[in-house]
Amino acid sequence: MTHKLLRIITDSGKVKQVGYNRRAHERNFTFSTTCQGQSTMSETEERLFSIRPLESEDRNWVAHFLDKNWGSTKIVSRGQSYYGHLLPGFAAEMNDAPEDAQPAGLITYNIEGKDCEILTLDSNQAGLGIGSALLDMVKVVAKEDGCKRLWLVTTNDNMEALRFYQRRDWELVAIHRNALIAARKMKPQIPLVGKNEIPLRDEIELELKL
Ligand SMILES: CC(C)(COP(=O)(O)OP(=O)(O)OC[C@H]1O[C@@H](n2cnc3c(N)ncnc32)[C@H](O)[C@@H]1OP(=O)(O)O)[C@@H](O)C(=O)NCCC(=O)NCCS
Repeated sequence: MTHKLLRIITDSGKVKQVGYNRRAHERNFTFSTTCQGQSTMSETEERLFSIRPLESEDRNWVAHFLDKNWGSTKIVSRGQSYYGHLLPGFAAEMNDAPEDAQPAGLITYNIEGKDCEILTLDSNQAGLGIGSALLDMVKVVAKEDGCKRLWLVTTNDNMEALRFYQRRDWELVAIHRNALIAARKMKPQIPLVGKNEIPLRDEIELELKL
């Protein structure tokens, strides 16, 4: 077993120290993440939450989580549909949460060749760094896997996501106009009107070169 310690400095100036033990087989890590201010960090600093890879035992709560947040476990992106609870991903758990508490954050992704697509990213504890840390974890794994690009689609109503990703160096690379018409045929739960009372029409593609 090898041990590594990474320090990730995000655009927001937060410094995250990520310790992980790499297990015998590829792409299976245990993570713990500390989010603090700009200062240097030590092992004794308060740990707000931990991040761990999803295991097959997680599928039930992941299915419920996706159902609640996205209307179904079925995730549609660029004309492809995925069962989100079967995808690889990471869960964020508050360190002071009761043992039976549902994780506070979830990210799922899919690697194909040199591309890694983020299919879902959700945080139930806004502003603590969970979303950023989950994103950084996928970045680490994608790089380890030889990916050259992270990408995702969000929808035209999701101003918060567009802000979130662009503040983290992601670039808008395409607007797939009216893509939601086809997506709705695959997933009828997609509403006609989305966040901010904006009609849900387009898929906006963003990418981050690795
Ligand atoms: C986008 C999302 C994952 C961010 O998660 P998060 O855990 O809040 O992320 P972080 O804490 O790392 O960063 C949040 C950013 O929003 C700000 N923020 C958001 N809500 C906040 C709150 N209630 N209090 C303080 N800051 C807040 C943070 O300051 C930070 O801004 P920055 O870009 O200036 O650094 C989360 O808002 C979410 O789950 N959204 C709904 C699902 C979604 O749209 N997912 C993306 C679809 S592709």
